[in-house]
Amino acid sequence: MTNQETARAMKSHHAQMAKELNDLVLAISTSEAAWESARNAVASYLREQVLPHAAAEESTVYRVGAKEESLKALIDSMLFEHTIIKGVAERIESSKGRDESLILAAEAAKLFEVHAEKENRFIIDFLEPRNDVDLGAVLGDMHQLLAH
Ligand SMILES: [Fe+2]
Ligand SMILES: [Fe+2]
Repeated sequence: MTNQETARAMKSHHAQMAKELNDLVLAISTSEAAWESARNAVASYLREQVLPHAAAEESTVYRVGAKEESLKALIDSMLFEHTIIKGVAERIESSKGRDESLILAAEAAKLFEVHAEKENRFIIDFLEPRNDVDLGAVLGDMHQLLAH
């Protein structure tokens, strides 16, 4: 895959995760009686999709990005945001009541959306035109980590 194709695939995966997460969050507000299972679905999605994705990019995309002096501070802040998202995920799991769950879940979805958009605009778009970066290989490494 060319860097351009890989960048597109990475961004569309971010968009897909943001949408799926958002839909699950909305289910908490619409399913009056079943809010607990809707809350559990949000928590599971964060634990099974979003957090493994974050962990995999830490040792792939972020590692490549951190080699660039100008991206170092940004990568640090992105790592920090991963810990914030993880913290919110834990609070969702132990949340009591529909209102609290909904507030935390909406927080997680917005945090993820903004975080992913920062990756798109400031990391992926930065690396994509570089001749010395093979984004396809980086994505391949990410998939390998997620498969294990
Ligand atoms: Fe990330
Ligand atoms: Fe990401």
